[in-house]
Amino acid sequence: MEFSEVIRRRRMVRHYSDKPLAPEVVERILASALRAPSAGFSQGWAFLALTDPADRARFWPFVPVRAEKTPTMQDAPLVVVPLAHKEAYLDRYAEPGKGWEDRSEDHWPAPYWYIDTGMAALLMLLTAVDEGLGACFFGIMPDHIQPFREEFGVPDEYAPIGALTIGYRATDLPSQSPHVEERRRDADEVIHRGNWGRHG
Ligand SMILES: Cc1cc2nc3c(=O)[nH]c(=O)nc-3n(C[C@H](O)[C@H](O)[C@H](O)COP(=O)(O)O)c2cc1C
Repeated sequence: MEFSEVIRRRRMVRHYSDKPLAPEVVERILASALRAPSAGFSQGWAFLALTDPADRARFWPFVPVRAEKTPTMQDAPLVVVPLAHKEAYLDRYAEPGKGWEDRSEDHWPAPYWYIDTGMAALLMLLTAVDEGLGACFFGIMPDHIQPFREEFGVPDEYAPIGALTIGYRATDLPSQSPHVEERRRDADEVIHRGNWGRHG
């Protein structure tokens, strides 16, 4: 698929069929995450991939609102939880040559551990589209994060930034709400050319 079409077609899909994914498709999606850029090439991320129906069933109690509002999300044959590992960044930037030996978070202009893990998530979303699949990124609310970690044995220093469902779109997928396109902000509103406030 043309890259421009991948971008144009990408949308959050919340209704899936339970058609399984070929294992090589799952591997291509996961491998794409590892191609994301990362500050200092820290790669401070990890990905919990759930394909087994029993494992996926263990996940859904931690996102009760999604499970209730869009129950067919639970049919998606792949759930990936991208996890940000801040310690890897603090360690990497404390190395000689980077020089933030005090490991203070005040140095960071933005929390790159979340940014990089988000970039990896986006690559998985785009790879899903390229594979003819649908995908959705959604949040795991704060109250559910620690119980989620305990259920899956995730160490405390790994922070889930959300989760992705990936699978074949349901055949009766409702068309995207027109509000999404109506609400998409215009270039003139958000792109400033040469100076703040200059849109022409
Ligand atoms: C950081 C982030 C968090 C999101 N959280 C949720 C969520 O919890 N539940 C959900 O249904 N969609 C979630 N979304 C999807 C957005 O609602 C969606 O991207 C937006 O409405 C635009 O629609 P589109 O991506 O289909 O173009 C999230 C998206 C991002 C980037």
